Amino acid sequence: MALDLFSPIKVGSIALKNRIVMAPLTRNRAGEGNVPREMNVTYYEQRASAGLIITEATPISAMAHGYPATPGIHTEAQVAGWRKVVDAVHAKGGKIVLQLWHVGRISHPSLLPDNALPVAPSAIKPAGQAFTYQGLQDFVTPRALAAEEIPGVVAEYVQATRNALAAGFDGVEIHAANGYLLDQFLRDSTNKRTDIYGGDKVNRARLLLEVTQNVVAVAGADKVGVRISPLNPFNDISDSNPQDLFNHVARVLSPFGLAYLHVVEGGMGGSDLPPFDFVELRKNFSGPYIANLAYDKARANAAIAAGNVDLVAFGVPFIANPDLVERFARDAALNQADQSSFYGGTEKGYIDYPTLQG
Ligand code: PHB
Repeated sequence: MALDLFSPIKVGSIALKNRIVMAPLTRNRAGEGNVPREMNVTYYEQRASAGLIITEATPISAMAHGYPATPGIHTEAQVAGWRKVVDAVHAKGGKIVLQLWHVGRISHPSLLPDNALPVAPSAIKPAGQAFTYQGLQDFVTPRALAAEEIPGVVAEYVQATRNALAAGFDGVEIHAANGYLLDQFLRDSTNKRTDIYGGDKVNRARLLLEVTQNVVAVAGADKVGVRISPLNPFNDISDSNPQDLFNHVARVLSPFGLAYLHVVEGGMGGSDLPPFDFVELRKNFSGPYIANLAYDKARANAAIAAGNVDLVAFGVPFIANPDLVERFARDAALNQADQSSFYGGTEKGYIDYPTLQG
């Protein structure tokens, strides 16, 4: 029988009951001190029938924050808050990994310690505005990280990984997608460095490689995934040769024996995207491949049956359907998501979407 979304799979050391992955989703509902709170526990617990939950992007340090009310993984209280989430998901038989996030230049001094400037590979201001506690404010020109500061950034990923493991997570996902810090180093519109972290693709991939090496050293490769988004222009980013760059990224990540590579296969928000062959990308990576972006059940099953992908991550459908797995199993209709309650707010539009059971 052909494989499909309901075929069990092991990604690294994590045994999954199905291939339906809950994508990382920023919801801006953490409590005081960016600590996960009761409604966050309920939200993830409701979705524990997913084969794998990837948490919302989670700042690894005080300098990694770029949005209000995102839950961190750099204080004791945050670790304790996440432990409640993990325990609730595990009690329901689910698996959950934490997404390690540093936003780089996609931040604002008002969100950072002592009104610091955001950090980035190069001092290039993104077009657009930051979401702050005071409302939308123009992005600022970030400060380029000195080469001597890079080991400190890598150390933040390592400490955050230790914290995630202490909270009981099944693993971690390194967020190297969507125009945030690691992606800012990868792509050549945002990385104009002239040291060993800039220039050709080998140099631009160096920081991701170092972060991966060091996170793998504390967690084990079989508990580490990486997320990339070769085409996504979100956060004012692009690359002059994405196929060549990301084929290289997949090639250098492959020998680690990671739990998975997770790929946003397009752009969030419509725009003209360059041609890109994701099947070719995948050929450069020997481990499990999670595809994401605008898949439905039929397309996901077809991609898995064809052997082009191993798992599929669903975002918006999981916001509106805590029982997405059961709905797919029964070919039931899906709830439509209310966009106005995606980011921030109360329990409304967060933990009140109905299941088939009512
Ligand atoms: C967002 O807050 O809109 C957001 C966060 C992380 C992502 C993508 C989008 O990777």
